[in-house]
Amino acid sequence: MTTISITETVEVISNIAISPGYHRITLGWTPLEVRPGQFVMLKTSPTMDPLLRRPFAIYNIHDDGTEILYRVVGRGTALLSRLKRGDRLDVLGPLGKGFELPEDRETIMVAGGMGIVPFYMVAKELLKMGKTTQLIYGVRREEELILADDIIGLGTEAHLVVEERDNMLPTDILEEMTIGDRRVLACGPGGMLKKVASLCEARGAECMVSVETSMACGMGVCMGCAVKTTDGYRMVCADGPVFDAKELGWKG
Ligand SMILES: Cc1cc2nc3c(=O)[nH]c(=O)nc-3n(C[C@H](O)[C@H](O)[C@H](O)COP(=O)(O)OP(=O)(O)OC[C@H]3O[C@@H](n4cnc5c(N)ncnc54)[C@H](O)[C@@H]3O)c2cc1C
Ligand code: FES
Repeated sequence: MTTISITETVEVISNIAISPGYHRITLGWTPLEVRPGQFVMLKTSPTMDPLLRRPFAIYNIHDDGTEILYRVVGRGTALLSRLKRGDRLDVLGPLGKGFELPEDRETIMVAGGMGIVPFYMVAKELLKMGKTTQLIYGVRREEELILADDIIGLGTEAHLVVEERDNMLPTDILEEMTIGDRRVLACGPGGMLKKVASLCEARGAECMVSVETSMACGMGVCMGCAVKTTDGYRMVCADGPVFDAKELGWKG
């Protein structure tokens, strides 16, 4: 199934810091259809600097608009953080393929850092389907746990790991768990995704991972986001960002 992706100039409804360096922007834009795990490309400045749009997962859609949760890491996100209510920016999307949520089995969500973002919509969709929601979430510092508040508020059973406090990783929790026939959905740093994929492979479990690369066009044209798969090179923006982990041919 494909969704229509268009570029629109939209209004900023709000743009608030939820924790130092972390922001939630609401855009006055409601796409007709969005699948959990899809993303948008935002033009963070009306000038040529920076020239390229930046990719962000869609956090939530409601009647008033679309929410994006972002961390300030460089020039584009710093400019984004300065936008005020009433400012306008270009958005392209929804883009890519999201998570396929199985009707016939339960899932386990595994997130690291900003990898939590797509899982709010995943959890909402799973609940609509009458499924339970279970999350393993790892962050570096305690204050970043704020990112999990909304998804826990939905009633998600969460296993939270603070690296600095607990001296462990989310994959340590997954390793101790019985996965059974559940499908594992993962989003976060590359090292975490590879470990999740190898744990799933060892147990014969299904595993879908959302991969992050730098992107230029976001639409499968520039080839800037190519990843090697068992079926040749594929574009993260158009063929992903969610892939069956087996397609990526990672070796544990
Ligand atoms: C499909 C997809 C979904 C994404 N969803 C989100 C999201 O929901 N929320 C969010 O905050 N980010 C998300 N990102 C990452 C986001 O696109 C980048 O953080 C953003 O493009 C950085 O732009 P910038 O201009 O601020 O930084 P740049 O000027 O491009 O980079 C500045 C510095 O930050 C480093 N950097 C760039 N990206 C990251 C990163 N992701 N993590 C750590 N360091 C980085 C660069 O290597 C460089 O050193 C997503 C990326 C992809 C591909
Ligand atoms: S970003 Fe251009 S092909 Fe993916």
